[in-house]
Amino acid sequence: MTDARTGLQEVRRLIDADEPAAALAILEPLVAERPEHGLTRFFRARARLATGDLDGARADADAAAVLMPDRSAADRVLARIEVAQARTDSATLVAQAAADVAIVDSGHLAARNAAPTEDVRAAVQRLAALDLVGDWTSDPTLAKIAYFHHAVDPVRALASYDPHLIGVSADFGYITWPRRIQEHVRGRSVIDVGCGFGGFGVGFLVAGATSYLGLDPAMDLDSTSARNKRLRERADMGITPRAIAENLPAVRLFRGKSEDLSFDERFDTISLHNVTEHLADPERVLAGLVALCKEDTRLVFHHHNYYCWNGHHDPPVQPAQLDPASAEHQQVVDWRHIDQLPHLPAGHRYLTTLNRIRLDELRELTERYFVVEQWEEISSSAATLARLTPEVLERVRRTMPDLTERELSVNAVLCVATPR
Ligand SMILES: C[S@@+](CC[C@H](N)C(=O)[O-])C[C@H]1O[C@@H](n2cnc3c(N)ncnc32)[C@H](O)[C@@H]1O
Repeated sequence: MTDARTGLQEVRRLIDADEPAAALAILEPLVAERPEHGLTRFFRARARLATGDLDGARADADAAAVLMPDRSAADRVLARIEVAQARTDSATLVAQAAADVAIVDSGHLAARNAAPTEDVRAAVQRLAALDLVGDWTSDPTLAKIAYFHHAVDPVRALASYDPHLIGVSADFGYITWPRRIQEHVRGRSVIDVGCGFGGFGVGFLVAGATSYLGLDPAMDLDSTSARNKRLRERADMGITPRAIAENLPAVRLFRGKSEDLSFDERFDTISLHNVTEHLADPERVLAGLVALCKEDTRLVFHHHNYYCWNGHHDPPVQPAQLDPASAEHQQVVDWRHIDQLPHLPAGHRYLTTLNRIRLDELRELTERYFVVEQWEEISSSAATLARLTPEVLERVRRTMPDLTERELSVNAVLCVATPR
């Protein structure tokens, strides 16, 4: 008995010293001799847990919980075993998912021209059935899983699967907006007015759009250059918009203005991301969008407000980026871009590419053609709002006396509307 007690003291020391194998060497003969001794089973549960033998640890902890006078210590070990089990399960799942993604990535091109092989088909079905956890907007593997998980028909979705473009979309930040409005995207056909460089298409497919049409007058169909939204700079996408549209049946890309659209097609969702503030004739565009609508179409736009701290669209974007020594920054900082308006030369960018529409004007225009279901005014950051001092307010109002604090504070609007 004294030997057993001394042995258990040594076992405890070894477990605390993170030497579970040495502890187990002492514990095995003790358990063989007295399998009904609760404390011995408890220590073997701890030692087995530390070596990763979760089934063995669970059997010992269950036994200890019954054999010991107070089961609370054994219950704590059982809880730790469950945590370890969950970690092991999710690591197994991630490894299985990565293996399935590899199968699909190596077989997807062949599947474009012929029926997918059984292996590819099975891998796609497994990926589609996974519980999607984690940030699928920035992790390329999760984004590939999301592509199949959100697809209406995952096997048919193989036809427009492009692992390179999904990786680029995740890296360049092109899945963030489709995810934000996913309830209006999944299972729906989408037209993206003012889509930019063509990179958003696959982002919308990852969020579950059944098809995507992007158009923009500034899109260069033969350039591989696109804006990396995460780094806020242009970078090489490795593929041109023309090649994207040629390779992926679910994606169409056109160079042009929405006013010039002349086809008879209707969409489930019309998206405009940071476009409404750039439209030369917003009313003409909004009125024209009605022709693209079915009865239950949703118009979803994100509008960047010209009258907020960074509404000028130039650096600095946040107060943290402000360089007091920069003459360019000084021209615009703390709402000076508004003071500048009366003094800008004709043809200045603020006058030609930013329409400077007021929030209420935009809402009123939208309501002329659509029923607004959601109008969410998104405030600027606290650091930005702290710069709106009474002096700044007074200065800005010398230029535009009727500007409200609300108009100076709202960074953006998220609007969801249906046709009248
Ligand atoms: C700030 S960019 C936004 C691009 C893209 N939506 C994004 O979030 O990256 C505004 C885009 O609106 C486009 N645009 C301006 N007027 C347009 C019009 N009438 N029809 C369609 N697009 C237009 C511009 O060419 C420009 O690419």
